[in-house]
Amino acid sequence: MSKAFQITSKNQEETKNIARKTASLFHPGDLIILDGELGAGKTHFVKGFAEGYSSQDLVTSPTFSIANFYRTAGFDILHIDLYRISTIEEFKDLGLTDYFDQSIVLIEWGLKFANYFDEYVLVSFDSKGDNERLITFSTPQPPKGGAVEKSPLGDLGVKIDEIKNKLC
Ligand SMILES: Nc1ncnc2c1ncn2[C@@H]1O[C@H](COP(=O)(O)OP(=O)(O)OP(=O)(O)O)[C@@H](O)[C@H]1O
Ligand SMILES: [Mg+2]
Repeated sequence: MSKAFQITSKNQEETKNIARKTASLFHPGDLIILDGELGAGKTHFVKGFAEGYSSQDLVTSPTFSIANFYRTAGFDILHIDLYRISTIEEFKDLGLTDYFDQSIVLIEWGLKFANYFDEYVLVSFDSKGDNERLITFSTPQPPKGGAVEKSPLGDLGVKIDEIKNKLC
């Protein structure tokens, strides 16, 4: 079973605050997939996340650049937007996975290739009117009938508990 925690954000500052508070729970090598419609608040979440690490770099939407790196004291935050990427081959050709181990990676529209990413925390944004967003932190379902236990959901489940403790 997937574990989940939900919290409501009433405006963009709250979304940034939520991200800022949870940022310290992640480490280089961790992957966060951000899911939600256009304008749901995914990029604003990354803005708060980078602030959580006191990055001086400007966070902008990578819809056209595909990937942005934001420097922090010890590592980079890698911000990817797969909206304009059509195939997994196209994504692989970018060579971005070379940086996954040494960066905290946040991917907008990453669920397009959900099967490719084997271990991640999913942050979903559900718009409730102009400014309210229901934000759900969850872990992916275990692979259906897969022979290989590829996701240590126990650890990711702990991560959801840690997020809940930070935000409650
Ligand atoms: N609670 C909220 N949290 C985040 N953004 C909000 C909220 N309420 C309103 N907004 C507005 O919604 C928009 C969110 O834009 P943002 O670029 O973060 O979305 P996105 O999910 O990254 O979209 P895209 O898929 O186009 O990249 C902004 O204009 C922001 O001001
Ligand atoms: Mg965006």
